[in-house]
Amino acid sequence: MADILLGIESSCDDTSMSVIKDGMILSNVTFSQSIHAKYGGVVPEWASRMHMEAIIPLTKETLEKSGCQLHDLKGIAVTKGPGLIGSLIVGISYAKSLALSLNIPLIEVNHLEAHVLSLLIEEPKPTFPFLCLTVSGGHTQLVYVSGYNQMELIGQSLDDAAGEAFDKTGKLLGLSYPSGPVIDRLAQSGNPVFTFPISKMKDFNYSFSGLKTSVLYFLQKQLKEDPSFIENNLNDICASIQHTIIEILAFKLIEAANHYKTKNIGVAGGVSANSGLRNKLKELALKYHWNTFVPSLQYCTDNAAMIALAGYYKYLDKKFAPDDFGPLARFPISEVPQS
Ligand code: KG4
Ligand code: ZN
Repeated sequence: MADILLGIESSCDDTSMSVIKDGMILSNVTFSQSIHAKYGGVVPEWASRMHMEAIIPLTKETLEKSGCQLHDLKGIAVTKGPGLIGSLIVGISYAKSLALSLNIPLIEVNHLEAHVLSLLIEEPKPTFPFLCLTVSGGHTQLVYVSGYNQMELIGQSLDDAAGEAFDKTGKLLGLSYPSGPVIDRLAQSGNPVFTFPISKMKDFNYSFSGLKTSVLYFLQKQLKEDPSFIENNLNDICASIQHTIIEILAFKLIEAANHYKTKNIGVAGGVSANSGLRNKLKELALKYHWNTFVPSLQYCTDNAAMIALAGYYKYLDKKFAPDDFGPLARFPISEVPQS
């Protein structure tokens, strides 16, 4: 009998579900909440409500696309954290009810570990050990991965995440939320002619808050001289911001790869969708003879396929969640959850 699981992701502003059969993704459907764009950031209250509205239609669509039915499911994997508590509660409560009614086990998944495992959804997959740079809207982490459930956090951002650097600088430019994809698109028609400082922290840590401040002061100065500075230079400003973020990310990635003597390098999370970062990775692969891996676009940003896959490995080890488990706003990688 096949091991068929349903994965549920609701940690932020994407409601996503996926069906996995014996480790192969059969379907992955994501509903991205557009309501937040007009507020310039995620409004937690709205996020929870939108998850609640989406969750049943999404279950039906995901099952239909997979060709499976509710009674085929052997388990349900759901994101426990990190994330917005109200959003997580919707996914977890729903998963609990469904698991109870179907009399199948629940598996709790760390969203950040799942981003790392998104590199194992499709071929070509990295072999263990590999180094993963996870770059999302809430986190920037360097993770040394020795096995499906063996991950060591070796460095992280001490302030803003890389995705936040895109979103916050985009806000200064008057771009819509999330600004990462917008900056990516505009940067393609610009050149990195403006210089911003490249932060180099100790060890394998990152910092992005200085970039936001330097972009703010730069814009204030330029706008005093030319009130149309942003309109007249938007593509070049975006290319310069994107270039700086990529250089900051690449610098520590190279140091970590040298230190850990690994040539298997993956980049995951929402910012791994960035075309400039993907090109930089190709350039680094040639220069340092790395084997590089990035998920296809649907698995870069938040998705339930990565939750289903992470859950599948735990399911094989019979690592089921206790009945009384709950969400965690903060949930460091590989830390034993304290409910
Ligand atoms: O992983 P993700 O979907 O959600 C979190 O777990 O945070 O990442 C969302 C982040 C946002 O900050 C968004 O601006 C960024 O990923 N992002 C991008 C691109 N697509 C999404 N940043 C730069 N370029 C992109 N193409
Ligand atoms: Zn994420």
